[in-house]
Amino acid sequence: MLKVFESFSGVGAQCMALRNLKNKYKVVATSDIDETATLAYYYVHGKFKQSRKKYTTEKKREFIIKKGIGNKNRINKLDEVAVNTLFDAIDTCNNMGDITKINVNEVPDHDLFTYSFPCQDISSVGTQKGLDKDSGTRSSLLWECKKIIEAKKPKYLLLENVKNLTTGKNKKNFLEWLSYLEEQGYSNYWKIFDSKDYGIPQRRPRVIVVSKLGKCKTNLIKDNIIKQKSIMDIIDFEQQGWKKFMPKADVKGQVKNNSYAFLDDRDWKINGVMISDLCSTQRAGRTGLKLIKNENGNLYERKLNALECCRLMGYSDKDYYNMKKGNLTDGQIMKICGNSIVVNVLESVFMNIFEEENL
Ligand SMILES: C[S@@+](CC[C@H](N)C(=O)[O-])C[C@H]1O[C@@H](n2cnc3c(N)ncnc32)[C@H](O)[C@@H]1O
Repeated sequence: MLKVFESFSGVGAQCMALRNLKNKYKVVATSDIDETATLAYYYVHGKFKQSRKKYTTEKKREFIIKKGIGNKNRINKLDEVAVNTLFDAIDTCNNMGDITKINVNEVPDHDLFTYSFPCQDISSVGTQKGLDKDSGTRSSLLWECKKIIEAKKPKYLLLENVKNLTTGKNKKNFLEWLSYLEEQGYSNYWKIFDSKDYGIPQRRPRVIVVSKLGKCKTNLIKDNIIKQKSIMDIIDFEQQGWKKFMPKADVKGQVKNNSYAFLDDRDWKINGVMISDLCSTQRAGRTGLKLIKNENGNLYERKLNALECCRLMGYSDKDYYNMKKGNLTDGQIMKICGNSIVVNVLESVFMNIFEEENL
């Protein structure tokens, strides 16, 4: 049984990948501060379970605020039903909240620690403030993971972030982090994984570092065979709303007769309008990716819907419907997708960890 601490958990793409592989695992703790992400995790993995703790609504509110989850003023204004749901989500998924506030003595023992820390200050489209230690940037939360690694010494570690972490001004911190892990006794394996090479038609290059305490027999970043999906597996054919394609700028690429393609005109002033068999990277707070279809030479376009965004992240349709059952809006679900990790990529990495465990 692989015990997992999924920090910066979001919707729990790590847990989805483990679930799909059907090897024995148990998520013993999670950590996130975002209210919607906390609820999404619960709806997808927590099976809408209720906490056994008999707290009053006021005590539940205090519990949530103390963990640093959600905005304090908002939590104070939530009605009883919403407080109960959020409390159930945190307690049943053992969301330890703000990583800066976690007391390591309360962290359960675990074999795998996953840390897909915020990328906003590293990403090419982000603030570019970097991740220097004590800089206070969101990406510098990486250094908070040290206290957990040193206290718990998990057998395996999994880092995920944008590929910019490994280049330019971020490279120094990246190399420092790898040296730190080596000093702690870990062997590191890392490379850039692009989801387009793992069966999902989305361009999404991300760095993944897999570390093992001590020596390792398996190459923890080798590629495994993953089921291929094409654009036809992504499209929700029930979705209406196709409009005549009116390009805003010069068009690069084309869609074959009586078929479909992805369309990206979000940066049409800079990049023009792009048509491709691969979808551009989904990003939180930057929606508007589209599909284009060619029907007997006539071109039509429409925006990707939230179900299609989930499919492009390798989530199951049931994951999407569970989030809808919890009343998350399509906009919230798309934001969650943009922040997340393509499940198929994680599956390939976890296959190696399970192989190593069985040697
Ligand atoms: C890149 S996303 C990770 C997504 C996640 N791996 C998934 O599967 O969807 C980073 C996450 O870190 C969370 N986060 C930001 N600050 C945090 C903090 N101080 N403590 C814990 N989590 C934090 C964000 O709310 C966000 O969900």
